[in-house]
Amino acid sequence: MTHNIILDCDPGHDDAVAIILAAGNPAINLLGITTVGGNQTLPKVTHNALSVCRVARIDTEVYPGCGRPLVRAVEVAEDIHGDSGLDGVELPEPLKPAHTTHAVDFIIDTVMNSEPGTITLVPTGPLTNIALAARKEPRIVERVKEVVLMGGGYHEGNWSAVAEFNIKVDPEAAHIVFNEPWPVTMVGLDLTHQALCTPDVEKTIHELGTECSDFVVGLMGFFRKAYQANQDFIDPPVHDPCTIAYLIDPTVVTTKKVPIDVELRGDITCGMTVADFRGPAPENCHTQAAVTLDHARFWQLVTDAIASVETRPKL
Ligand code: BDR
Ligand code: CA
Repeated sequence: MTHNIILDCDPGHDDAVAIILAAGNPAINLLGITTVGGNQTLPKVTHNALSVCRVARIDTEVYPGCGRPLVRAVEVAEDIHGDSGLDGVELPEPLKPAHTTHAVDFIIDTVMNSEPGTITLVPTGPLTNIALAARKEPRIVERVKEVVLMGGGYHEGNWSAVAEFNIKVDPEAAHIVFNEPWPVTMVGLDLTHQALCTPDVEKTIHELGTECSDFVVGLMGFFRKAYQANQDFIDPPVHDPCTIAYLIDPTVVTTKKVPIDVELRGDITCGMTVADFRGPAPENCHTQAAVTLDHARFWQLVTDAIASVETRPKL
């Protein structure tokens, strides 16, 4: 089965790997990349997305979206992703500029001009663009096939004790996305903290010996140090491509249907994704949480996608 997806991202080391995985697996038809302010400012992450497209040898259009959260002030993750948002590598100059259409309009137009149930949204940054699209054109909600997002967690936080970065940065947007009745899969920290880039994984990627594999190894080197210094990890968790891996092969990720909502008012819990595991999920439950990852299979998919870049002509 092929998935027609829009990847809404804020590259970001792990977003970059998500782009490469989406570009390099035949089960994914990448319709466009939309960007959102998150790991770094909107101009930086948009530039990064275009550079990564060049590395991945794809000429996918990049549509810049919202530069700030719906309500709150801009907050970036410089400690984790550096000043550029993709520190650790030399970024090739993009081969073309970003598209002039706003991300929100691209999302709406794509969904409204496609058969219902054929477009999957894959957000791997703050949910600002997706929430705004749902508010600007509410009919997209029943037409989107599903939303598979990286964000949140039912037992873990990383931007506060209980909240994950993508949700904490724009909790109002996340609240909208989790409360619209479209199917939502939360690929949260409980799952992505299993997607560790171990030295063995890094060695396998390094041994591919390509421009793209060098790029990913460079990214992972910086990511590793950042996670060691700031989050007390030994190996960095490569969050965002888990969403794409789940779409490619749902057996890579186990999921559990569970009602999930986003806390907006708690002084110390704002941005927490609260999953109610009591009893069986109600009949109309439209949310599910990712639970366990097949680590070996996940990294095999990523490694294959990196290797596949060489099969495409250089742009
Ligand atoms: C998420 O936050 C960002 O730093 C990563 O790119 C990922 O999307 C993990 O909390
Ligand atoms: Ca991200």
